[in-house]
Amino acid sequence: MNSRDSIRMEGLCYSIGGRKILEDFDFLLERGVNRTILGVSGSGKTTILKLLLGLLDPDSGTVSIGDLCITGLPEASFMQQRKRIAIVFQGGALFDSMTVGENVGYRMFEEGRLSEGEITAIVREKLSFVGVEAALDLYPAELSGGMKKRVAIARALAADPDYIFFDEPTTGLDPIGVYNICNLMQRLQAEGKTTLMVTHDLVTAFATSQRFTFLHQAHMLFEGSEEEMKRSRIPEVQEFLGPTERSLFI
Ligand SMILES: Nc1ncnc2c1ncn2[C@@H]1O[C@H](COP(=O)(O)OP(=O)(O)OP(=O)(O)O)[C@@H](O)[C@H]1O
Ligand SMILES: [Mg+2]
Repeated sequence: MNSRDSIRMEGLCYSIGGRKILEDFDFLLERGVNRTILGVSGSGKTTILKLLLGLLDPDSGTVSIGDLCITGLPEASFMQQRKRIAIVFQGGALFDSMTVGENVGYRMFEEGRLSEGEITAIVREKLSFVGVEAALDLYPAELSGGMKKRVAIARALAADPDYIFFDEPTTGLDPIGVYNICNLMQRLQAEGKTTLMVTHDLVTAFATSQRFTFLHQAHMLFEGSEEEMKRSRIPEVQEFLGPTERSLFI
């Protein structure tokens, strides 16, 4: 067992409708080592994030957050551990009927531990961190795609997590939006947050991560650094990094 704080999967199997999504899968996210999971569409990247959060139950194998194996436990008994992780979902998943400020603050309001003034201060601080404080009273429908992503990140930060999961945070953004997200992730890392991203976007992956996991047909086909990945002789990895005519219609 690694002595460093981490989130882990061991020997994990997960199927949907008889199709194996993960088979005997081992995964390690160590605190302070930012990682990206790469893989083609439908390979199971989002599923990994949900399993790590305990939102899905594996068919076999285990998930551990820090010292606690959460597999098989009722959700209420691992809420403390789960609170150490925040997720920015694919698409942002903001509540359309709430303002930006309400979206960022709603969990704190629900918990009822802080006064309204304290919550407002935190909401403003998080929105300012992501550069959209001026949008406090707007509704999600009034925001650009890039702003929505940043509000979703502000909401994730409100709980002051140790780990932040990003599901395709740059999909659909223009180059400036992508640059903004990369910069935000790097600032969060400088503040001691550990990021785990799933994406197809190699530029963002290499700009924000030290380690890479390549998922292919339910298995981890590659794990290593950017250098190691670029030198890899594994055909699927080479193909992913630089598709050629061979990649057409396969
Ligand atoms: N609720 C569900 N019911 C049936 N099949 C599902 C369900 N959720 C996911 N799947 C299937 O499981 C596989 C893995 O899905 P997942 O969303 O994890 O892929 P992904 O790698 O995140 O894809 P993308 O890059 O497109 O987001 C896909 O083939 C998907 O069709
Ligand atoms: Mg996905």
